[in-house]
Amino acid sequence: MCGIVGFTGDRDAQEIVLDCLRRLEYRGYDSAGIAMISKDALTLRKSVGEIAVLESQLEKMPGRTGIAHTRWATHGKPTTENAHPFVDCKGEYALVHNGILTNYMQLKEQLVKKGHKFTSETDSEVLVHLLEEAPGQDLKSKVLSMLRQTEGSYAIAVVQKGHDEIIAARNESPLVVGVGHDENFVASDVTALLKHTNEIIYLLDKEAVRITPRGVELFDLNGKAFEREPKKISWNLEDAERSGYPHFMLKEIFEQPRAIHESLLGRLDGQEDDALLKEQFTSIKILGCGTSYHAGLVGKYIIEELTKIPTTTQISSEYRYSPVTESKPLVVCITQSGETADTLAAAREARRRGCKTIAITNVLGSAITREADYVVYTRAGPEIGVAATKTFVTQLIALYLLALRLGAIRNTLSSERRRDIISGMRALPRIVQSVLNDASKIEALAKKYKCAQSMFFIGRHLNYPTSLEGALKTKEISYIHGEGYPAGELKHGPLALLSKDTPVVAICIADHTYEKMLGNIREVTARESPVLAVGTEGNQDLSKYAEEVILVPEVDPLFSPVPIIVALQLLAYYLAIERGCPIDKPRNIAKTVTVE
Ligand code: F6R
Repeated sequence: MCGIVGFTGDRDAQEIVLDCLRRLEYRGYDSAGIAMISKDALTLRKSVGEIAVLESQLEKMPGRTGIAHTRWATHGKPTTENAHPFVDCKGEYALVHNGILTNYMQLKEQLVKKGHKFTSETDSEVLVHLLEEAPGQDLKSKVLSMLRQTEGSYAIAVVQKGHDEIIAARNESPLVVGVGHDENFVASDVTALLKHTNEIIYLLDKEAVRITPRGVELFDLNGKAFEREPKKISWNLEDAERSGYPHFMLKEIFEQPRAIHESLLGRLDGQEDDALLKEQFTSIKILGCGTSYHAGLVGKYIIEELTKIPTTTQISSEYRYSPVTESKPLVVCITQSGETADTLAAAREARRRGCKTIAITNVLGSAITREADYVVYTRAGPEIGVAATKTFVTQLIALYLLALRLGAIRNTLSSERRRDIISGMRALPRIVQSVLNDASKIEALAKKYKCAQSMFFIGRHLNYPTSLEGALKTKEISYIHGEGYPAGELKHGPLALLSKDTPVVAICIADHTYEKMLGNIREVTARESPVLAVGTEGNQDLSKYAEEVILVPEVDPLFSPVPIIVALQLLAYYLAIERGCPIDKPRNIAKTVTVE
């Protein structure tokens, strides 16, 4: 996730473009850049770090048209070379891009053969070289020709030396047009523009726009013009930063369909370099803390089921106390921030023990990427709420992809099962959206359980870790004591804690654990505890056993933690709202824990 802006009008552009860009910093902050167009020059400045760093290095740049970018790296480290905008070999065009191009390697090879000089490791740079090659008399037709050759997601804005115009387009990455008086804008998000205009045109996929100081022309990728009236936006600036959501956590919960989509983009065909996975290890050890540890627990079930490789999951801070074994497991370190001290220490210990390591992280260039032999990025975009939500779900995606790849290498998957898994993964964004569409039902349930002092979360098999994660979200956000348990263990002690004041959330989906889960629900209701069951759509039976029921779409049981955790994230969020908790910054905890 990156942020892009563009401005063209009768005023000096530099300060306006930077002001808009600052409001997009929540979308990425590892590097930034600006390109300005004046009568006879195209000036470019970029730097590593937050936008403030770029600003501190800028001299006055002339021009009334400019584009800028704040980056959240997905291809190539956060360096000045990899920062946007990119310019072509002749310095005629500049371009900013948010998204992921899936065919950039092929395009790059062809362009290099034609003599183009690349200055970055990014996928985005191919676009500006393609533009140089594109036929057409004007910028608009050249951009359209460039886009016809690209696959993947994009929001782009392009400028040309000596022209007060911007061509912008989108496919699967957000882009809006701001309509002003004798000036017009494009941006990734309304947030960037509200200080200057509240007249917004939302572009849809495969739509493009040409803005000049006096006009806005909308067209499709074949160049066919269309009309759309601007909408008047009534948000204030603070609302806008969260795209109108009251909290970042809720925004990030709702971003999950998109985050999953981005995480899958271009990866289901198994083209990534995976030499490390072909090595002859006989077991896997997954390490992580908190939510990342829970993703690792789900990962154990996924990997064992799809690859038959024995897998254990351990809390990072405990790893050093476990004995060194003769076999050297492949060690998978999961950390969304890439900076958690316990997981970094565990990764170092794993290497000291002679193990090869894979990092699953959301932050390009973070410390874990320097510790590990191989890195898988989760592409969830920056997560600002302290409670991990979209990063957890995309960690699961990374684990499904890892298991799928290992299954192919070890030949443990029939082609039919592989096909089913791939189509199951492709459906996940839609499945999660359907859970989100029912958020108001979960909100109503939260009112009922808001006074609980303590809640239990129970599940079996893959959904035992889902119950742990549901409990963690509840305790950290709503301050209700949440306890996750394997459902079969309740009778070995914790039943003593149950009473009519202790709600129990029971994950009870239509799989081989169903009958046993019903038995566990009976045990609970016999102690008069109210049960909130999370089951599968179409199940009419569950309401006979449970006081309340949340139903999520049926998926292959392997994927069931995904829709279920989204429902439990919403439950935790609405419980916290009911209890007046601060949500995005819960007491006593930090987003990134850099001490052991
Ligand atoms: C819970 C949460 C924490 C983190 C843990 C590890 O919502 O966010 O439990 O999961 O601190 O952080 P990372 O994944 O950055 O290593």
